[in-house]
Amino acid sequence: MIIAVDGPAASGKGTIARALARHYRLPHLDTGLLYRAVAATVIREEFDPSSETDAVSACSFDDYILEDVWLKSEEVGKVASMVSVHPLVRAALLLRQRKFAHQPGGAVLDGRDIGTVIAPDADVKLFVKATPMIRAQRRHMELRKQGILTSLDKVLTDIRARDERDARRSHSPMVPAPDALLLDTSFLSIEAAVQKAIGLVDGRM
Ligand code: C5P
Repeated sequence: MIIAVDGPAASGKGTIARALARHYRLPHLDTGLLYRAVAATVIREEFDPSSETDAVSACSFDDYILEDVWLKSEEVGKVASMVSVHPLVRAALLLRQRKFAHQPGGAVLDGRDIGTVIAPDADVKLFVKATPMIRAQRRHMELRKQGILTSLDKVLTDIRARDERDARRSHSPMVPAPDALLLDTSFLSIEAAVQKAIGLVDGRM
């Protein structure tokens, strides 16, 4: 069983994907981490994220970098959305994601283009969304917990900019697959969102 979970930043897709993987005992891949690893390599090597040639040469990163907590930072997330617009970067990461999705027994993957490009044959596709303001509030709270003080306005502006880049890029934009089930988490607790996701997946099995 392949479960594709797509959606914008701070929509809850990562938490939902991890919970589904636990519930159905499937391996899980957070595909955003791959783009973040490319971004982190670009930053470390002082490459230009807007250069496709530079970004592609950052695609052969060592896997240990995936464990680095710095990958989760806003700085790396922003550069990830810049390098992910390049078709050659997406192509370089495609096979790894497809192989993961099509391993025996199935898998859960979360990202932006899982249901549309990586696994259009997925058994269940969820598109998780929430309003930009609610996502900004969640991200703002997370950052505060990490001791990073920034204004809600700035977080909202960054979220909107990232949405714009992810949804408007010409290659593999973030759009719900035509057969995706929409899950709006705006007014749901984490537990309620997970229960709803499990209900949607069960309904497709
Ligand atoms: O999900 P996360 O915030 O970790 O993703 C970081 C960035 O990587 C996204 O803003 C998006 O630009 C890119 N990404 C992508 N396709 C995916 C996963 C992430 O373009 N499947």
